[in-house]
Amino acid sequence: MVDFKGLIREEVRDLAYYVPGKPIEEVKRELGLNEVIKLASNENPWGPSPRAIEAMQEALADIGRYPDGSAYLLKAALVEHFQLSSEHFMFGNGSDEIVQLIANAFFRPGDEILMGMPSFPRYETVTRIMGAIPVEIPLEDGYYPLEGMLAKLSEKTRAIFICNPNNPSGTVRTSADLREFVAKVPKKVLLIFDEAYLEFTHEKFSGLEFLAEGRPVIVLKTFSKAYGLAGVRVGYAISRPEFVDALNRVRPPFNVNSVAMAGAVAAFADQVYLSEVIDKNRQEREALTANLEALGTKVLPSETNFILAFFPGKGPELAQELLRRGVIVRSGVAFGYPDAQRITVGNHDENAKLLMALKELL
Ligand SMILES: Cc1ncc(COP(=O)(O)O)c(C=O)c1O
Repeated sequence: MVDFKGLIREEVRDLAYYVPGKPIEEVKRELGLNEVIKLASNENPWGPSPRAIEAMQEALADIGRYPDGSAYLLKAALVEHFQLSSEHFMFGNGSDEIVQLIANAFFRPGDEILMGMPSFPRYETVTRIMGAIPVEIPLEDGYYPLEGMLAKLSEKTRAIFICNPNNPSGTVRTSADLREFVAKVPKKVLLIFDEAYLEFTHEKFSGLEFLAEGRPVIVLKTFSKAYGLAGVRVGYAISRPEFVDALNRVRPPFNVNSVAMAGAVAAFADQVYLSEVIDKNRQEREALTANLEALGTKVLPSETNFILAFFPGKGPELAQELLRRGVIVRSGVAFGYPDAQRITVGNHDENAKLLMALKELL
C-alpha cells in the first residue's frame, strides 16, 4: 500500500479543525428536542435590516450571472462613509476569508506572527498553513495582551493580530492603550486590526487612525455581526492601496456572491436599524450580565454581543447540560478556560430561557 499522506504538505497534516457552534437542527435531531436556541456563534438574534432581505430577494432574479468581482456598489457606499478612495477596500467571503488571504499574501515560512491567547482561532491556523510561527500571548486580566506582545517582538516579527474587541473575552482596549502600544511597535511590522465587533463598543476606536498615520495597517470589518448577515458571508479590509492590490491578487475573483453584496449594500444604508440593534444588544447584555452575577457568576466586562462567564467548579459538562435543556453555548475548554462558557447575547426570550436553565443547574 502506498501511503499518499506524504503528498499533503507537512504544515497542513496536523492542523487543528475549526469547531463551529452546533447547528440548531442538529441538536434538535440528536436530542429529540422541539425547541432549541443557539447562543454559541455570536450571531445577531434580530437578523439584518428588512431592507437587506428585500434587496437579497430582488438580487435572486440575476443569479444566473457571475457577481461583480469589483464589488462596485458596495465599495461606493464604503468610500462615501469612510471618506477614503476606492483603492483602500477589498472584500471577502466573510472577514474570515480575508484572514486567510492576508496570510497568503504576507506570511513567509519562519516569520513570527503575534496574537492573543485566547483569540479568534483562525489567526493561528492560517499562520501555520504558511509555515510561519504563531507566537501566542496570554490575555492580561482578560484584556488583549498588548504589554506581553511588546515583550515578544523580535527581528522575525512580521505581523501582529489585534482583535479589538477580543473574541472570546469580549473586552476592548481603549484608544489610549492602543496608541501607546502602536507607538512602541517598529514601523516595519504589519498591524492587523480585527474589528468584527467594533460597532457594539462604546468608544468605537478603530485602527484606521494608524492607517491614516501611514503605518502598515489592515483593518478587518464584517457584515456578520452587528449587520446580521452571517449566513451570506461578507467582510472587508481597509488598507493601503498596495496591500489591497496584493490581497486582490490572491483573492478568488468571484469570492463574494451577488446576493450577499446586495444585502450588504442595503444593510449598510440602514444605519437606523443598525443603531437599534446596537441599543437592544447593549440592554440585553447588561441585563444578562446582572442576572448572571446575581447567580454568583463572574463575567468579564464585555462590549460585544457575547460574554465570557466563569462558573467555578463547573467544567465543560455545564455546556452539555445546557444543551440537553435546548440551549447551545460555547464551552471555554477549546480556548483553555475549562470553567468558562462563552455566551452570545440573545434576544429577550432567549436570554430568559438561558437564565432559567442555569438557575436549575447551579
Ligand atoms: C474576531 C473575529 N474575527 C473574524 C470573524 C469572522 O467573521 P466573518 O467571517 O463572519 O466575517 C469572527 C467570527 O466569529 C470573529 O469572532
